[in-house]
Amino acid sequence: MIDLVRGTKDLFGINLLKHKLIIKTAEQLAKKYNFQELQTPIIEKASLFTKALEQGTDVLDKEIYAFQDKGGEFLALRPEFTAPVMRHIINIGFNSNQPYKLFSYGPLFRYDRPQAGRQRQFSQLNFEIFGAKSIFYDAEIISLAKQILDELNIPNFKIAINYLGKTETKLKYQQILFKFFDTYKSDLSILSQTRLEKSPLRILDSKDEKDRKIILNAPTIEQVFDENDIKNFEELQNLLQVLKIDYFWDKHLVRGLSYYTGTIFEFLTDEIGAQSALLGGGRYDDLYANMGGKSINNQGLSAVGFAAGIERLSLVMHKNNFKKDLKIYILPLSEEENLESLLLATNLRKMTNFVIETLILNINLKKKLEIVAKCDGDYAIILGSEEIKSQNFSVRNMHTKETNKLSLDNIINISEF
Ligand code: HAM
Repeated sequence: MIDLVRGTKDLFGINLLKHKLIIKTAEQLAKKYNFQELQTPIIEKASLFTKALEQGTDVLDKEIYAFQDKGGEFLALRPEFTAPVMRHIINIGFNSNQPYKLFSYGPLFRYDRPQAGRQRQFSQLNFEIFGAKSIFYDAEIISLAKQILDELNIPNFKIAINYLGKTETKLKYQQILFKFFDTYKSDLSILSQTRLEKSPLRILDSKDEKDRKIILNAPTIEQVFDENDIKNFEELQNLLQVLKIDYFWDKHLVRGLSYYTGTIFEFLTDEIGAQSALLGGGRYDDLYANMGGKSINNQGLSAVGFAAGIERLSLVMHKNNFKKDLKIYILPLSEEENLESLLLATNLRKMTNFVIETLILNINLKKKLEIVAKCDGDYAIILGSEEIKSQNFSVRNMHTKETNKLSLDNIINISEF
């Protein structure tokens, strides 16, 4: 046994097929919504993430894979896409007067305790819209996220939304939360006690049972909303209703990353255990300026986006919702039929999209059929001298265990089992 790095996995078989289908579905929808693809390097300067993600965020404080290279430069394996995508926007010089949409996908790295749905190397689909001041784009991005999950036939997910308001609103709320949690300080978990000074907002995300009881009574952010926050959030809710998107307002929803201002959302499932977020995102209108972007007409650059975990989507895609290509095995009855098997396989590969395998092995039919069953074959074509003469083939459906005589035309037209 040769060990893999903890929290990493080889991707093969059905999981690889699902992974590819998720990316294909996202690519097709990205195109429909007018996103362009951006690929960024997997390694970046570590300072990119220090600039983008405030301290007090787990991703930066505990989870980042940062190291010094042979030239002494501090580098990091990317833990998320938003900072690299924003770096790209700052570098190209954003000058568009219309929304600019970027789609990325690929591997990311976070040093966290691996469990179901949580890996140290994982992959995301990532969507960002820049120059998207209107709350309509928040609705559009949530609608896109929902469409991806719907097209992947992912059942039973819930959409939680909340609104953090602009930086001043967020700061006021942090102060109120600090006062509230400070009165319970000694009852809080050690982790929440350390978060109290740096980032009381993050306490709301605690999974600790005792913390959760305290959080139930914690003040909610709408107390500090100004008129504009109220108007925006109401409008978002109206738009979601018009788009027939079911959501619930989780007044204590916060995100693990610190750059959000305004709308935040998560799509949640009960099917993976503790790692319930299939995707998450929101609006981050200050990040451009915070990362040193030049002001555009005396303003910053508004942005909204989300990322979905490909492994988590894969876990909740039900096997029967996932259509794989039909797999057909050709089984020559004896050595005499080996050549015909090869010819039939070549023809079927040209004429169909089936996966075709021949079992040219010196074993009897029963053993060959056992292999087909073990390898998830859908059909076995049994080829004897009779079948070759009549061109009528014995085709065994491995799911129903029925065998029928089929012509080549009939075989080509098999659509399911
Ligand atoms: P995030 O919530 O950190 O947001 O990650 C988004 C999604 O990535 C999660 O909901 C989850 O599905 C998946 N994910 C995160 N960590 C892991 C892990 N260790 N193993 C497996 N899956 C994981 C962001 O990354 C933001 N950059 C999203 C965003 C884009 N906000 C605006 N634009």
